[in-house]
Amino acid sequence: MSKVILVASVILFVSGCSQSDNAADKKSTAATKTSTTVTSSQNSSSASPSQKVVKKKTIEKQPESKKTTPANDPPYIDPNLAFEGEILYQQNCGFCHQADAIGKPGVAPSLTNKEFLAIAPVNFLFDTIYDGRPGTGMPPFKHLGKKKIEAIVAFLRDHATLPSRIEEVLAQDNSHGDPRRGKGIFNDICSTCHGPGGNGYVAGGTGTAVGTNGFLSKVSDGFIRVTIKEGRSFTRMLSFQGPAALADLTNKEIDDIIAYLRTAPGEAKK
Ligand code: HEC
Ligand code: HEC
Repeated sequence: MSKVILVASVILFVSGCSQSDNAADKKSTAATKTSTTVTSSQNSSSASPSQKVVKKKTIEKQPESKKTTPANDPPYIDPNLAFEGEILYQQNCGFCHQADAIGKPGVAPSLTNKEFLAIAPVNFLFDTIYDGRPGTGMPPFKHLGKKKIEAIVAFLRDHATLPSRIEEVLAQDNSHGDPRRGKGIFNDICSTCHGPGGNGYVAGGTGTAVGTNGFLSKVSDGFIRVTIKEGRSFTRMLSFQGPAALADLTNKEIDDIIAYLRTAPGEAKK
């Protein structure tokens, strides 16, 4: 009896090995990133059985990497998808974010801003497009399906001109600020654009809904911190630290603001 099981599992094991050998043959290194690129560039041509194996591996990897790391850098999305992504972008996003994706004050933010792309993880972009931002003008695009959203993300990432700081920003400590003090500062200098409580354009300003869960559930404290410190060039989001800044906030004050935003004050204002 146990012999039968043993033989069966040996057969399973061997067939399992030959499958992965097959995949490895396609690209001698086992690095998944490499095989991702290979697969996607061959997507359009007819896939041989061995390519199918590679394809299967790629699909399995995505949810896994999404789970283990909040953001996925280096990205698993094939940059070659950018061409297809541009067409999809024009069909679905250009209306609000503008044809060149630089956004329009009070309508939609810039998606090609270089400081933004240097710190925006693939998963942040993907999930924001997939889920939208409830309570704002940013609709969900679930219906497009994963592949098309990935292509759009590849198109957006293609505009990055600064070196990626995604890992460094993600590794930053969470804020331990004082939300009460943060509220005071936010009301004084941020709410004119972001709305009281950070509920965004609905309040008539040009700043996005930084106090609502659609944004907060998808960003790290590091992302918020760096954005406040450095701003986003050629948008109305200025820098709030340093002698040339609109207001020279201390690190502590910035963390106080983050602590306040983490209470999601914009949800109460909806
Ligand atoms: C109907 C208008 C509209 C359309 C269409 C639209 N967006 Fe948006 N988008 C917005 C608004 C408004 C916001 C800002 C929401 C807020 O206040 O936080 C936004 C925010 C975003 C953000 C977050 C940017 C940041 O600075 O954090 C991303 C990413 C994004 N949109 C991508 C897309 C993509 C990709 C598409 C097309 C698939 C798209 N949007 C289509 C209106 C739109
Ligand atoms: C003069 C208007 C203005 C002021 C004042 C301002 N912001 Fe902004 N902020 C913006 C705009 C506009 C954007 C989005 C950039 C774009 O439209 O492309 C933004 C983006 C942001 C983002 C990124 C949000 C996202 O959707 O990705 C954060 C975080 C933020 N601001 C925080 C703050 C904080 C905190 C303050 C106060 C210290 C502040 N802002 C003050 C206009 C402003």
